[in-house]
Amino acid sequence: MRTRLLPPTDDGLAAAGELLRAGGLVAFPTETVYGLGAHALDAAAVRRVFEAKGRPVDNPLIVHLAGPERLGELAAEVTPLAARLAEVFWPGPLTLVLDARGAVPRVTTGGLDTVAVRVPDHPVALALLEEAEVPVAAPSANRSGRPSPTTPGHVLADLGGRIDAVVDGGSTVIGVESTVVDARGTTPVVLREGAVTREALGLDAEAAGGDPERSPGTRHHHYRPACQVEVAPPGGAAARAAELAQAGHRVGLLATVPAPDGVTELGRFDDAGGLAAMLYAALRHAEDTGLEVVVAEGVAEHGIGRAVMDRLRRASA
Ligand code: TXA
Ligand code: MG
Repeated sequence: MRTRLLPPTDDGLAAAGELLRAGGLVAFPTETVYGLGAHALDAAAVRRVFEAKGRPVDNPLIVHLAGPERLGELAAEVTPLAARLAEVFWPGPLTLVLDARGAVPRVTTGGLDTVAVRVPDHPVALALLEEAEVPVAAPSANRSGRPSPTTPGHVLADLGGRIDAVVDGGSTVIGVESTVVDARGTTPVVLREGAVTREALGLDAEAAGGDPERSPGTRHHHYRPACQVEVAPPGGAAARAAELAQAGHRVGLLATVPAPDGVTELGRFDDAGGLAAMLYAALRHAEDTGLEVVVAEGVAEHGIGRAVMDRLRRASA
């Protein structure tokens, strides 16, 4: 299969929408990372997503909609909490888990009786979802176990030849995935930390992390690059990188300070949001250039810093 790179023009989006309706696989940009889309109500199309990614079949997909109006077609009950969260955060990087309607194939929900849904905040994603006219199941568009893709190049590196098309929307802005929240009760339960912060959700920012028993994806080995990743305390990252370089390792640094001699500067950031935006691209670059160790300067665990540290810990596990 030849994977087409489609421009985000009327013609490109029409072709992409047509492919999705026909059961094809189309990667597209969102505000967080690139997603690998398939017709969410077409079990055969969704099965192809799992095959292309090499994804465990018990890891459910997020269904993407162009707007909140059609949520009731997927969810058996739109709770008052879900309605309120959708009102406040959609379009945006918040995924709501609700009881699923029977119309949602169980391959889409990883065998669960719940369905995860979000409306992405990206003009190309929204235009494509309008054009497709069907709900679109889309996990991150990487091979399972690789860092999520933030550029069309990352998608092609992992899935070129395995999917029908990629819609080119340039680099994604946020860089870490959506926050996944169980919205069946009266208060949101965070299943995966993400771009919408606990503070924004009105939750205790000091609470323990996501619940791995309830969000199947967080159990699997996500975000695991081929090189070693080490998280260093602020102030200690450059020295640790220099020490590893002196010991003969090929080392890259992601920090708020310049890289010392003998260390590759993978990226300089000012705050947690800056690190989020460059993290996955930096990990891929480190792999591509044969670095053995990436030293990343840790960030404070509030705001988006929680999601970033969650991803860094997984990458370093
Ligand atoms: O930002 C994002 O969320 C991106 C873009 C493309 O939208 N998508 C994404 O999808 O990160 P994925 O498949 O890589 O991660 C989906 C997460 C997994 O941890 C999965 O287990 C969880 O959402 N999830 C999906 N459906 C669920 C359900 N019914 N119950 C609990 N967790 C669910
Ligand atoms: Mg993923």
